[in-house]
Amino acid sequence: MGELTPRSLDRVTGALLAWGETRLRDLPWRRTRDPWVILVSEVMLQQTSVARVLAKFDAFVNRYPRPGDLAEAPLGEALVLWEGLGYPRRCRNLRDAASVVQREHAGRVPDDLDALLALPGVGPYTARAILTFAYGKDVAVVDTNVARVLSRIVGEPMKLAVTQKLADDFVPTGRSWEWNQIMMDFGATLCTARTPACDRCSVSRLCAWRGDNLRPDPAVSTQGTSRPQPKFEGSDRQARGRTLRAVSLQPLRVDEVIAAMEMLDDPERAHRILGQLLEEGLVVRVNDTITLP
Ligand code: ADE
Repeated sequence: MGELTPRSLDRVTGALLAWGETRLRDLPWRRTRDPWVILVSEVMLQQTSVARVLAKFDAFVNRYPRPGDLAEAPLGEALVLWEGLGYPRRCRNLRDAASVVQREHAGRVPDDLDALLALPGVGPYTARAILTFAYGKDVAVVDTNVARVLSRIVGEPMKLAVTQKLADDFVPTGRSWEWNQIMMDFGATLCTARTPACDRCSVSRLCAWRGDNLRPDPAVSTQGTSRPQPKFEGSDRQARGRTLRAVSLQPLRVDEVIAAMEMLDDPERAHRILGQLLEEGLVVRVNDTITLP
């Protein structure tokens, strides 16, 4: 890492900005600077692919154009619009965050790191995404893509704190919005986890790893880079999704919920999963039936 002088830092920045100039993807959350809309997009994108988010994003922000709109809506209604994105706890947290914004920040998503980090479901990544994408502050976002790209350029596995510091050093003054979006797209489309296109990469001459097959990929042991997704088929996550989808159509008795989960052969597991959904407030029990909240 000693090789990264201010001069080489500048050259890397220049090469990446030039790459991004013609290649930045046109995405709906890139056409706005509304901090609420950006918060919604970033929470959706935390664990869901761009393609899946695109299918759901417009309907959600059209229905809830301001934090107060989501804060006042029934959670069940929001969960229906969230369907297909997975990890529905995020939707509940987003609604809780909207309530905090409404109550404590007069309906305006804060522009301060600590206030953002205090919102439910907002971690260091999402907080910084709002600071740069909505407020144009010179901070770097580090998601799995960015961590991978930086560790390859440096040629060493890195701890998260080191990556964040390096990422912040890279941000060209006054151009953080563009820079962070480029880093994400560069990682998502060229410097990918499994098949990086080093042969057509304009940064490769400045990159310490350069796709060298003889050397281990430093991204693999870098903190915060993606791990293979756990299997969905047969998972609790699948059963949770089936439950929410089924009760969004009509209230169901518990035995009907278990049937909808396709878990009649393992009622103990089904009850445990349903118990968790009830505890998380993602479904509620009304008399003898389970429904959306
Ligand atoms: N993933 C997370 N944030 C993103 C963004 N702003 N654009 C594309 N992919 C993303």
